Amino acid sequence: MRNKIVAGNWKMNTTYDEGENLIKGIIEKKSTVKSDVTLIVAPPFTHLCCFAEPLQKAGVGISAQNCANHEKGAYTGEISAAMLASIDVQYCIIGHSERREYYGETNDILLEKVKLALKYNLTPIFCIGEKLSEREAGKQFEVVKTQLQTVVSQLSAVDFAKIIIAYEPVWAIGTGKTATSAQAQEVHAYIRTVLKETFGAAADNTSILYGGSCNPATAPELFSQPDIDGGLIGGASLKADDFIAVASAF
Ligand code: PGA
Repeated sequence: MRNKIVAGNWKMNTTYDEGENLIKGIIEKKSTVKSDVTLIVAPPFTHLCCFAEPLQKAGVGISAQNCANHEKGAYTGEISAAMLASIDVQYCIIGHSERREYYGETNDILLEKVKLALKYNLTPIFCIGEKLSEREAGKQFEVVKTQLQTVVSQLSAVDFAKIIIAYEPVWAIGTGKTATSAQAQEVHAYIRTVLKETFGAAADNTSILYGGSCNPATAPELFSQPDIDGGLIGGASLKADDFIAVASAF
């Protein structure tokens, strides 16, 4: 049985007060979401310490959006996995396409981050997905396979069992162009096949989330697909009503 998960990636949005209002709204409305759906929010670093306790009391998971690829030391401006764990953060988004694109994060760097997150008991939400030019060239399968093999396939079976995958076609992120449920299901099924090559039947237990303009209108059909186990939600996670509506699509 796979966990159903809906995670909100706030990106670089919300001042502290705005964020506080947003989690209040999510906590208030959470009772309308089915109890077998795990809700996670990923606010900016500055909010994590104060949000950890209220979210955990309400049964909502808390995630960072990134962590350093070094354990500690002279890396000005960076936040380590150990620091996040020390304030009770439970999850960490790693390899978001914006990090890959704007901050030069390569698969090698991302493997270091995933390993450090796991070392400090953070659950990685590892993001993969092809760019528009890659999809137009029919290379989406090749791209996600490389992203998986250079990072996820390098993990031990024990570590693999802990990770969450998010398939986020870059052309669908923040563009309003959601992948069709058939397009998403096709890649999700392929991801599971690739994971099975290394980890066998354990891949049947891996939650694979879809991300990219997922909203209350598109979530029901996406989440009804056999290999789509939830969503990583950007824009629609910034309004409590929309985020809860997405999570209620299950
Ligand atoms: P979006 O972002 O829902 O705004 O497209 C998704 C993401 O980047 O995680």
